[in-house]
This record gives sequence, structure tokens and C-alpha cells, in this order.
Amino acid sequence: MAKPAHASRGVRAAAMTIVLYPERLYADDYVEREVFGRKVTVRVADAKTLADLTDAECADVEGLMTLGMWVRAADIARFPRLRAIVRMGVGYDRIDREAAAARDILVCNVPDYGTTEVADHAMALALALRRGIALHHDLQRGPAPAPWKSITTPLIRRSNVQTFGIIGLGRIGIAVALRAKAFGFKVSFFDPYRPNGSELALGIHRARSLQSLLLQSDVLSVHAPLTPETRGMLGLAELSVLPYGAVVVNTARGPIIDIDALGALLREGHIAGAGLDVLPVEPPVAPEPDLLTAYRAGEEWLRGRLVITPHSAFHTPEAWDDIRRKSAETMAAALAGNPQNVITPDMF
Ligand code: NAI
Repeated sequence: MAKPAHASRGVRAAAMTIVLYPERLYADDYVEREVFGRKVTVRVADAKTLADLTDAECADVEGLMTLGMWVRAADIARFPRLRAIVRMGVGYDRIDREAAAARDILVCNVPDYGTTEVADHAMALALALRRGIALHHDLQRGPAPAPWKSITTPLIRRSNVQTFGIIGLGRIGIAVALRAKAFGFKVSFFDPYRPNGSELALGIHRARSLQSLLLQSDVLSVHAPLTPETRGMLGLAELSVLPYGAVVVNTARGPIIDIDALGALLREGHIAGAGLDVLPVEPPVAPEPDLLTAYRAGEEWLRGRLVITPHSAFHTPEAWDDIRRKSAETMAAALAGNPQNVITPDMF
């Protein structure tokens, strides 16, 4: 067989850039080939954690794609040629950004694949509770269905007499604000990092402190990232400030809310209902919080008052397509020296 021209001239082919997908996510690689082109070799492993990879698999990797894995300092140290990490999603709390920055490794996220899905999901949880859908659904499908009549409960209220409180007015928080407004809620938010005037642009109300937002929120929806500041931000003291009969929705990150405090306030009736797409530990492991035990056991006091979804707020086929393509594009841009969505250690 004839040698390629460059080989006969004694010229070595330029080394290929290796991008590693440590989790096997897709059945084919046509999107990645299209986005990365010929100068990048896409390597796919089937690991559960980065520690499962061999040193040889890490040695030449310049770009690391991660969906759900932790990327700790010890993991980063195993990639001597690493230049960029792309978190294939919004939250980056599982990546040790200090360790990456110490080696000038770029960390980028993909913030714009599921904004509308998560906003729709937060509204769906809020409305399923506030319209009594979860409650009536549970009662009607009982072995002896409940009487064919509506139920009086603190859960069910007209939207336009309620304040919809938002913690974190970023991409998703804004999308939720627009939706809640369209449903007739009065909308307030707490986000100390939004510039003044954001409230005027959206025609909503700004709370200057968490306490003042909590005092007025008949529905409270969390859309802040998980940071040292937001971890445990809603404990017993804070949740107790909510109006009696409030509904709490969390589609952001589980550890922002103290689930035991939420469970206690649900049990005593101070909080009427909760919709949780995220939990402190996912998937839950034993010993699980009492609230989850009561939920799974179908305890009567909690009927129709707690809706749990498995961190699926973002999930649509369209969002998965966007994650795939935009993640690859983000990595290609980072490796080409035109990074986008860069996350620095000082960002939350
Ligand atoms: P974003 O970065 O656009 O907005 C976050 C907002 O939170 C920013 O405006 C920021 O100023 C604010 N914030 C930060 N610290 C705060 C604090 N201490 N108090 C109040 N506000 C604070 O992020 P985006 O795209 O809106 O996503 C929000 C969160 O949603 C993500 O961080 C992620 O945890 C979660 N998420 C959940 C998904 C799911 O499927 N359940 C999918 C995508 C995102």
C-alpha cells in the first residue's frame, strides 16, 4: 500500500487532540464528529467515576466532558495534558474549580439547553399543588375512590391573590417570573447579584432581603445555584417565616433546602405543599430523610402535598439534543482558544 505523502517526506502527522467522554452517553458519535472535525479524536469510556479510568486513558486527554461525575483535585491531577473541562449542564458544583484554575485549565458550562423546560417544570409543580391536582389525582385513584367533589384545603388558592417568590433571578428565574406573571401571580424575587432595575425591566417586585421575600411568598421557587452561600440557605428558621399555607418548589439543588425542616413544617401544616425535583442526596440512599419515607409509604397526612420528580426538570428530547451539541461546541471553542461560558473560581 502506498504511504501517505507526508510520511514519504519524513513529516510526522500533527498530534491529534483527544477529547474524553468518560460516561458512555450516546449510541453513535455523528454529532461530535460534525462539531469537532478531523483534528480531534473523541474517546468514549464507560466509567462510573473518573477514578475508574486507567492512567493510560487519562494521559493524553486535553478536553474532558462531564455530565454527572465529580471532578475533584485528585481526578484533575491524573490528566497531565488537560486544557478544558466542559460540564454538560448548568450547575458546576461538582467540579473543583480552584484545582482546575491552579493549572490554567478552563472550566465551562452549558447554561442554555433546558432553561424553558426547568421553568415549565417549576410552574407545573407549583400549579399541580396549588390547583389540587396532585391531591385529587391521589384520591380519585384510590381502591374506593373519594367522593366526586372538590376538597377544601389550604393548598388550593386563586393565583392572583398570591405572591410568587423567586430566589435567584437568572435565566431560569426570569423564565419562571414571566410564566408566574402570566398566570396572574404577583411576582417578587430575591437576588442580591442582579443589577438594580431588573425588577423594572420585568415588571416584578424586588425584595431587598431573603427575609422580606420569605415573608410574602405564598409560593416560593428556588432558582439559585448551589454555593457555600446558598447551601442550607432555607432551614427551619427561614422556612418558618413563609406565610402559613405556603408552597415550596425546588428545581435548583437539593442541599439549598433543609429537607428535615421542610418535612417538619409540612407535618405541622405550616407549609401546605412542596414540589421537589432535587434532593440533598440523589438518588436518595438509606438512611433517607423521614419526609421521603412518609412520601413513599403514602402516609395520609402527606397525601397530595408532596410531588417528587427525579431531577428531570430539564428533560425533553430537544433539551438532550441541545446538551449534546452545545457541549461539544463549547469544548471545541475552548480548545480553539475562543472559550465561551467560562466559569471562574470566584463565580459563586
Ligand atoms: P443562572 O446562573 O442564570 O442564575 C442563577 C441566579 O442565582 C443568578 O442570577 C445569581 O445572581 C443568583 N444567585 C446566586 N447566589 C444567590 C443567592 N445567595 N441568593 C439569591 N440569588 C442568588 O442559572 P440558571 O440557568 O438560571 O440555573 C439556576 C440553577 O438551576 C442552576 O444553578 C442549577 O442548580 C439548576 N438547574 C436545575 C436543573 C434541573 O434539571 N433540575 C437543570 C438546570 C439547572
